[in-house]
Amino acid sequence: QPVYLSDYQPPDYLVTHTELTFDLDPTATRVKARLHIERNPAAALSAPLVLDGENLTLVSLGLDGTALEERDYVVSDTTLRIEHVPERFCLESEVEIDPNSNTALEGLYRSSGMYCTQCEAEGFRRITYYPDRPDVMATFKVTVIGDPAREPVLLANGNRVEQGERDGRHFAVWEDPHPKPCYLFALVAGDLCKTSDRFTTQSGREVALEIWVEEENLDKTGHAMASLKRAMAWDETTYGREYDLDLFMIVAVNDFNMGAMENKGLNIFNSAAVLTHPDTATDAAFQNVEGIVAHEYFHNWSGNRVTCRDWFQLSLKEGFTVFRDQCFSADTNSAPVKRIQDVSFFRTAQFAEDAGPTAHPVRPDHYIEITNFYTLTIYEKGAEVVRMLCNLIGWEAFRRGADRYFERFDGCAATIEDFVGCMEDASGERLDQFMRWYSQAGTPEVDAFGEYDYVHGEYRLTLRQRTPATPGQNEKLPLHVPVRLGLVGTKSGQDLTLTLDGESLGKEGVIHLRQAEQTFVFENVAEAPVPSLLRGFSAPVLLHYPYSREELAFLLTHDSDGFNRWDAGQRLSMLALDDLIAAHRNGVEKVMDTRVVEAFRTLLDGEVSDKAVLAEMLTLPTEAYIAEQQRIVDVDAIHAAREFMRQSLAVALRDEFIATYEANASDEPYAPTPEQIATRSLKNVALAYLMAIEDAKGLELCQAQFAAGRNMTDVRQALTLLVHSDRQDLAAPALKTFGEKWAHDSLVMDQWFTVQVTRPQPDVLERVEYLMDHPAFSIKNPNKVRALIGAFTQNRVNFHRLDGQGYRLLADVVIELNRLNPEIAARLITPLTRWQRFDESRQALMRQELARIKKEPLSSNVYEVVEKALA
Ligand code: ARG
Ligand code: ZN
Repeated sequence: QPVYLSDYQPPDYLVTHTELTFDLDPTATRVKARLHIERNPAAALSAPLVLDGENLTLVSLGLDGTALEERDYVVSDTTLRIEHVPERFCLESEVEIDPNSNTALEGLYRSSGMYCTQCEAEGFRRITYYPDRPDVMATFKVTVIGDPAREPVLLANGNRVEQGERDGRHFAVWEDPHPKPCYLFALVAGDLCKTSDRFTTQSGREVALEIWVEEENLDKTGHAMASLKRAMAWDETTYGREYDLDLFMIVAVNDFNMGAMENKGLNIFNSAAVLTHPDTATDAAFQNVEGIVAHEYFHNWSGNRVTCRDWFQLSLKEGFTVFRDQCFSADTNSAPVKRIQDVSFFRTAQFAEDAGPTAHPVRPDHYIEITNFYTLTIYEKGAEVVRMLCNLIGWEAFRRGADRYFERFDGCAATIEDFVGCMEDASGERLDQFMRWYSQAGTPEVDAFGEYDYVHGEYRLTLRQRTPATPGQNEKLPLHVPVRLGLVGTKSGQDLTLTLDGESLGKEGVIHLRQAEQTFVFENVAEAPVPSLLRGFSAPVLLHYPYSREELAFLLTHDSDGFNRWDAGQRLSMLALDDLIAAHRNGVEKVMDTRVVEAFRTLLDGEVSDKAVLAEMLTLPTEAYIAEQQRIVDVDAIHAAREFMRQSLAVALRDEFIATYEANASDEPYAPTPEQIATRSLKNVALAYLMAIEDAKGLELCQAQFAAGRNMTDVRQALTLLVHSDRQDLAAPALKTFGEKWAHDSLVMDQWFTVQVTRPQPDVLERVEYLMDHPAFSIKNPNKVRALIGAFTQNRVNFHRLDGQGYRLLADVVIELNRLNPEIAARLITPLTRWQRFDESRQALMRQELARIKKEPLSSNVYEVVEKALA
């Protein structure tokens, strides 16, 4: 059942032009296809034509105008096969599909009454018989016929070339002149309204921009539109890439499996990834929308003009595009904070994936179900690999390599070798060893050890690397790990000049670890240094260095690299948390490390000028991150230790937190600017500390912030802190007010669900069950499932209850979703697949639920994950 990269064969038949006609009907949509097909010159003369197709009812089939008889072809559950076809021909088919009953949200489906599509990776085969693979590229002409009242708006890719009415129905004809694989096909039809704008490209093309939404959301499109224009300008100035059609559309859809989709000229978005309003969306949501709008737009080149040869190359477009959107967001917001947020998420979630049973390389070599591979490894680790490449060869060479790639492979389906090859050509570097980052799974661990030699004024740094075995890959080879570093003088507090083998690297340099172990000797080091290693997270590795707390406190205030200053603080907190976790387990009194308190006091005294960075530095590692550091996770000790630390800091620094809160309270009208976002996050971090001890003044500020209702960032933070406190007398009315006020707004109700099911108090499981019956909840809507069930599984103390009820609840939901929406079901199981990291009784309970799921008739999606988890 698995597909292997090594089995790749070019297609036997190519489609040069695709004509489609959709006659829309909720339960019986007719799709007529005219495929202009040619045999691939490389294919055998006798090759049969095999098309993909699933859940299709074939109505008729013809070839060059002649109807085919049943004996001329064979239809299976997944294919249509014709044994003998000419060299070049037109295949005419008509199928019937049922959008209403499509709960998998792949192919053509209905969401809040509108028709929409999701074809990546293999959804197009649920629309018509077709060679559903990315290396078959055709121009498309699409006619959409609908009911003028029910679906007044009819959209598809490209430019609208015709529209009209006929027999009480209306239609629109769309043409996309750019050849594309079918996964980029899109169709939308419904009762939609638009916001319009314009963009003039650098060469003078006038582009109409449209964001299509349900009428009540028209006031929530401004930020997405502004983000789109910024992204279009950024891609021109940074990569020289310009848009290539006269129209660019975004549509917001309520039921969507992922964030968004880059269909040519017609991006389809999860409404959560496009709609914002100060009253309904938090700062984080505003930033998320900006990043996703840019990501999808950037795909127009990295993905659409140059696409992937096969799905093993998925990271070719995703890793590169994530890297592009990260750089864009860094340029438009606080760059250090963007990096801090990305890396702290990466080290928590991607490291966990790499350490679990579904670990896979950035380019996997086999899969059962490709939708299971839209992962943190493909996206985020893929982006880290591209970032390393860019840093290795330098931006100028990287940009030349990108130009070469876009030029040489324009209109083609490329591979990762093609991309890296362009970078080699542009830089003259050999990247053979670097390629291992694409084929080897698992997180490399780097042990570092440094020694200062006073007599010779030398600093010797030894680095040792090792990648743990992952499923199917026991032996690992050494990787090329670029380590950006500085040596911070303990006397001067400054970066010292780095001299290696007689060559000066300046005050900051990159050393290249290529072997299992290497020692680097820095010469002319005038004073004892503290090494600042892996600055900016220069490689996606787990770095161990035996820092003392004094050294970390020193780096926290002296490191010239903002990212590493933050990281030093996290490491310092981690050491103190380890003590508290041990104390909790041994049943002895917990004692707070005063060095952490003093470090925080220094921070609050105004050491850090960037407020957004300061807010990050004042935030303790999450429970998930702490758990990642333990071999066997002690859920309760982690929670207790972290709470103790938050409370100790709040008690010791109460006045500072109140002062910080007050200094950053503002009644300026809301804007999602980096300055305002920084100020709000600092204020809200301070409030969280005050609420950790339910300080009287803190409670007063929190209630006032909730009641003032200035913007969703402040309201949601206040609501969360009240609901997560022990003051249920205050929490209950706040929840009620909020729930009633926003009952009409689905995206806000998602937040209302999440706030409730992430409380640490032990009544949460019952609340999840109760909320699953709430009228605002629907198991068919992926956002609701993520907001309620997904959020609950992140509530560590409650999900991992010792009676196993949290696991049972998740398994029940997975079993139901396995029938309705296999992609979402397979994603939701993730926390259960991490059973190896828990104590024996939890392991047994988790495995028991996995085994119960396995007894069901499973979709290939869920089967693949459960199978790996139990292997
Ligand atoms: N290409 C899209 C994006 O990253 C995501 C596609 C999601 N596909 C899926 N089967 N869920 O921008
Ligand atoms: Zn993408």
